[in-house]
Amino acid sequence: MARYTQASIERLREAVDMVDLVGTRTDLRRVGSRWVGLCPFHDERTPSFSVEADRGLYHCFGCGVGGDAIAFVRETEALDFAEAVEALAERYRVELERESESAEEQERRRRRGRLLALLERTTAFYERYLWDSQEAAHARDYLAGRGFAEETLRAFRVGWAPAGWDRLLTGARRDGFSLEELLAAGLAQRRRSGDGGVDRFRERIVFPLADARGRVLGFGARTLDPDEPAKYINTAENEIFHKGRQLFGIDKARVAAAKAARVVAVEGYTDALALHQAGIVETVAIMGTALTDHQLAELARAAGGEGVVYLALDADSSGQQAMLRAAKAAEDRDVELRVVQLPDGRDPAELVADDGAEAIVGRLDGALSVVEFAVRRVLAEAALGTPEGRDRALAQARDLIAETPARSARRDHLVQLVADRLDLPDDYVVTAVAQAPRRPPAERRPQPAAGGDPGPDWGDPGPEREWDGRGAPAASERAPAAGPGAAALEAERIFLANCLASGPPGRDYLERLTDDHFSADVLRRVHAHLVAHFDDPLEGLDQGDDQLGSLVAGIALSAEDRRDTRASDLQMGFLTLEQRRIDRAIRHARHDPEAGPALSELAAARQQVRRDMDAVMGEVS
Ligand code: UTP
Ligand code: MN
Repeated sequence: MARYTQASIERLREAVDMVDLVGTRTDLRRVGSRWVGLCPFHDERTPSFSVEADRGLYHCFGCGVGGDAIAFVRETEALDFAEAVEALAERYRVELERESESAEEQERRRRRGRLLALLERTTAFYERYLWDSQEAAHARDYLAGRGFAEETLRAFRVGWAPAGWDRLLTGARRDGFSLEELLAAGLAQRRRSGDGGVDRFRERIVFPLADARGRVLGFGARTLDPDEPAKYINTAENEIFHKGRQLFGIDKARVAAAKAARVVAVEGYTDALALHQAGIVETVAIMGTALTDHQLAELARAAGGEGVVYLALDADSSGQQAMLRAAKAAEDRDVELRVVQLPDGRDPAELVADDGAEAIVGRLDGALSVVEFAVRRVLAEAALGTPEGRDRALAQARDLIAETPARSARRDHLVQLVADRLDLPDDYVVTAVAQAPRRPPAERRPQPAAGGDPGPDWGDPGPEREWDGRGAPAASERAPAAGPGAAALEAERIFLANCLASGPPGRDYLERLTDDHFSADVLRRVHAHLVAHFDDPLEGLDQGDDQLGSLVAGIALSAEDRRDTRASDLQMGFLTLEQRRIDRAIRHARHDPEAGPALSELAAARQQVRRDMDAVMGEVS
């Protein structure tokens, strides 16, 4: 996609009224040349947040955050740079210019615009049908009977797809959309006879599936007919809709999620509606059970770098499988996950309908770490009646507990849990944990076979463990999911290669890196070696140290292919490592507030990095 020109981004910055923008999040009062108010990023009673209207900047003296309008929107709305720019441009009516675009790109963008307009028109059509038509009266009754308020349904733009064969199609064509466009957007399907089309969604309640900025990309549609084999049908994959990338409700959840630094993921459309209505606005639905990597990445983004992802998936086995799989995936991407326990056989929507909003709030408060969730699952499934069953449960639980920090309150708590349940003395469990074999990570975390039970054999994504480098092939084609924090490792290796490829500026960056920038000890050693042997990296390697040697060789080789590394790549690579370093420090500070720099200091440093990233992206855009 073509980027926006620097000039148009500058015009956007100038067009934004910072007082107006910030004023949507916190009340501001004028004090001299500045505007002050309560900080929208942290809880405070006396205002330490200020806006300099002329310079278009905000700053908080309490928590250290600060930046320009784009940074403000990114932080408060969990949008990326381009999305924040687009949202601001829309709001302040600035025409953005793109860097020269090929005819092909222009055509793609025009096409996408048409399909989005068609989907928007369709959403409004279904909405009108739900509220105004006689035919939807029973659907309105059904929704009201399930406890959904009109306000909630309207906020989510829930609608009714009429029963006729081609109501939508006929109206849309009258408005100038072609059958081909209706087919492409997943709204029509071809007649069996082959010519003409029929509406895809008929006689169903429809839930629009929107992107982070609220643009509808597809629909999920529920039948009210108990004899209908498919309760829900969804838009099929097409050129703009990808179910695996979608989070239902993200457009309504992201602002609250960024503010609360947490996002709650539920399974179903109705669960999301129920939780929103219960006041837990930072909720999205994953639409079924197979949580994809994309969705997890989106969840992590919504919760923010220091945020927590709560999984409130159904207590049935597929929901539990999804949580186990998510926990594994989370390990690779520095996401903090908690598992919300739901009663058997009731989903969050039913829980709220039966027991009220407090029931779900209480369960969120009591959410478990993934290790505890896994340990409880082992205990719940153990065959306690036989000595073998108990031994097996102890062995599995012991391996899980061994992943928690020694002498921590968390470990004590888990030991207690196992001891109580297996009716063993605490000491016995403690000894068992101490004897747990420390296996290499690749072995400790086998990839789950598709559809198979991944088993309880994985660790805690919370405090990070170090990769010991064992079993890692030297070249860069190492599978990205081969161990904990693999994404981080990959970023570090690529950055080192880019530095090697870039001559003096690369050397400067290498010298700026500290041990804290690396997620594994072996890469610290690689770094030290490269600093000492920048001009000839294969020099001075210890013959006996295969691990170091193979990594250095792999990095040196891939540097050969990276001679075209740009200054902005180097800068972004450094900032990425810097951001990860700060995120790690933030996680440590949360676990142990006494140990390092204060959270507010770290948050400020993180903001600065984000600003620097924006600046780099602005320069190359
Ligand atoms: P559920 O069967 O739990 O449905 O599926 P639900 O959301 O609780 O719906 P209600 O409350 O009975 O109305 C959870 C989610 O799985 C997807 C949908 O996204 C649904 O919300 N799903 C389910 C489908 O896509 N197709 C189906 O046939 C069933
Ligand atoms: Mn459900």
